[in-house]
Amino acid sequence: MMRKVLPVLAVLTLTAVASASTWAAEPHEPVDHRFCFTCHGTDGMGSEGIQAPRLAGMEPWYLKRQLELFRAGGRGKHPSDIEGMEMQPMAVILTDENIADIIDWAGTWEYKPAVPTLTGGNVERGQQLYQVCASCHGAEAQGNEAMNAPALQGQNDWYLVTQLKNFKAGYRGVDPLDTYGAQMRLMTSGLVDDQAIIDVVSYINTLGR
Ligand code: HEC
Ligand code: HEC
Repeated sequence: MMRKVLPVLAVLTLTAVASASTWAAEPHEPVDHRFCFTCHGTDGMGSEGIQAPRLAGMEPWYLKRQLELFRAGGRGKHPSDIEGMEMQPMAVILTDENIADIIDWAGTWEYKPAVPTLTGGNVERGQQLYQVCASCHGAEAQGNEAMNAPALQGQNDWYLVTQLKNFKAGYRGVDPLDTYGAQMRLMTSGLVDDQAIIDVVSYINTLGR
């Protein structure tokens, strides 16, 4: 994984830094579309090869918060968080104006639920496990801004699995800046093993379709 990721990262960091200086000179210069899509897939649909999730359809408040969190180093700094470490330098170069532009721009991308890829999940057990999640993420996993909990429905299932493992292992949600992640990390205690994670995500795959 490292071997595949790091050269891509090196090239993109250079490209990104070059674009960042352009943005610094002209803050309202539109963000180069290729910059996010290189990893997040055509029209922000997600890319399993890079493990970069779908961004199209993401709530503006959550998108903003995660970009700011990555930028501040509250996410994507743990040495075992391989994918987060790939994203973190991409956010560091963004100004507040860039982030505002990205939110506007992302609002124009067409949302299509990600195609499920997960196999071997027990949907009935997943439904039981999901009951506690619903209080924050909503019965249909549609998200709830008042609880600071993003939508999970339609997100790439491989990404949800990785994030749940990362929260549980303490690769995400442990930085003092990541207070919402810390709330979420507590919630993974009910997911006792990898199978429970696969089961709950398999149930989430049935929602909002
Ligand atoms: C070098 C590849 C790469 C580039 C370029 C990149 N990302 Fe990412 N991004 C990733 C990866 C990989 C993840 C998954 C991180 C993880 O697993 O924690 C990610 C995660 C994210 C997340 C978190 C999503 C969530 O559900 O919490 C957001 C938001 C995001 N990226 C936005 C962007 C935006 C906006 C851009 C363009 C400014 C961008 N990314 C450019 C690789 C990239
Ligand atoms: C107490 C409220 C609460 C409960 C209960 C809860 N979550 Fe969360 N969850 C959150 C918050 C808040 C976030 C956003 C963390 C952040 O902003 O970094 C989150 C984030 C997530 C993410 C990361 C999404 C992304 O795009 O990166 C996943 C996956 C997730 N929750 C799954 C679950 C599952 C599965 C359950 C049930 C086992 C659950 N959550 C229960 C509050 C909750």
